[in-house]
Amino acid sequence: MNFPSVRMRRMRRDAFSRSLMREHTLLPTDLIMVAFVIEGEGKREAVPSMPGVERLSIDGLLDLAGECVRLGIPALALFPSPDASAKSEDAAEAWNPQGLMQRATRALKAKYPELGLIGDVALDPYTTHGQDGLIDEHGYVMNEPTVEALIKMSLAQAEAGMDFVAPSDMMDGRIGAIRDALEKAGHIHTRILAYSAKYASSFYGPFRDAVGSAANLGKGNKHTYQMDIANSDEALREVELDIAEGADAVMVKPGLPYLDVLRRVKDAFGVPTFVYQVSGEYAMLKAAAQNGWLNERAVVLETLTAFKRAGADAILTYYAIDAARWLRE
Ligand code: PBG
Repeated sequence: MNFPSVRMRRMRRDAFSRSLMREHTLLPTDLIMVAFVIEGEGKREAVPSMPGVERLSIDGLLDLAGECVRLGIPALALFPSPDASAKSEDAAEAWNPQGLMQRATRALKAKYPELGLIGDVALDPYTTHGQDGLIDEHGYVMNEPTVEALIKMSLAQAEAGMDFVAPSDMMDGRIGAIRDALEKAGHIHTRILAYSAKYASSFYGPFRDAVGSAANLGKGNKHTYQMDIANSDEALREVELDIAEGADAVMVKPGLPYLDVLRRVKDAFGVPTFVYQVSGEYAMLKAAAQNGWLNERAVVLETLTAFKRAGADAILTYYAIDAARWLRE
């Protein structure tokens, strides 16, 4: 027994010694804001299952980007919420050079070139069935035809000036195929953020409302491509493959229920490792806060710090702007 020569509470007694032994510090530069873009001008649409989050037309998106820059948030992750008329079986609108994402990218890069832009690469906002890929007659998401579509989508985004393409679809071989196509097209600086360990999670519900894929997906699910929530060895295999195929950063998603996976990935590979605090995590925190059951600011900063402790280099979160403000107060 070391007590009382060892007293853990000595270092905890005062703020100065607590701060000296603090292992991790959350900074605005750790955060990536997440935003949904819609058609139109001066348009803001609330997302009912995500109070406080609005879908913005490009002009509003520019204001949001300006706020990120002012607060020292290094990057914005962009998701399209296209009109229903832009959806089709083959998702062709996703690689239209004049499409929503491409126009948003050009506008953002023209006004805020220093703000990093991360573009979602997946077909679900653009398909009439809400799946992340192209389906066969049985509704199965076909791997290679989907990868071909993702290549076109990635090239269209890179062409528009996207800094990071971020395939969130979980098709096999897509990172290598996209990397190869980007190199061949001369986009040698376009980074790839691979959604490597992306689970078939029920925490994505509010996001599917936000991009308008929930109703189309209906009772469908994504279990044939997203990972089983019970696995973590498989996550390491996915990450290893994506790194080998040319990913510049890898991601674990969702966040808080998967801190163990985050820690394993960071320990095993030591590559830039991002985590995504997803829509359902936001909704849980927001709902409890709105009911007065949790102190929003305290729990949000606690969850974000927990991601850093678990090994995250950067955190995608709908709370990025709020958190950066709180950190600066
Ligand atoms: C789909 C995609 C999803 C999210 C990001 N990209 C949902 C899904 O896989 O169904 C979820 C993000 C969130 O819940 O915040 N390509």
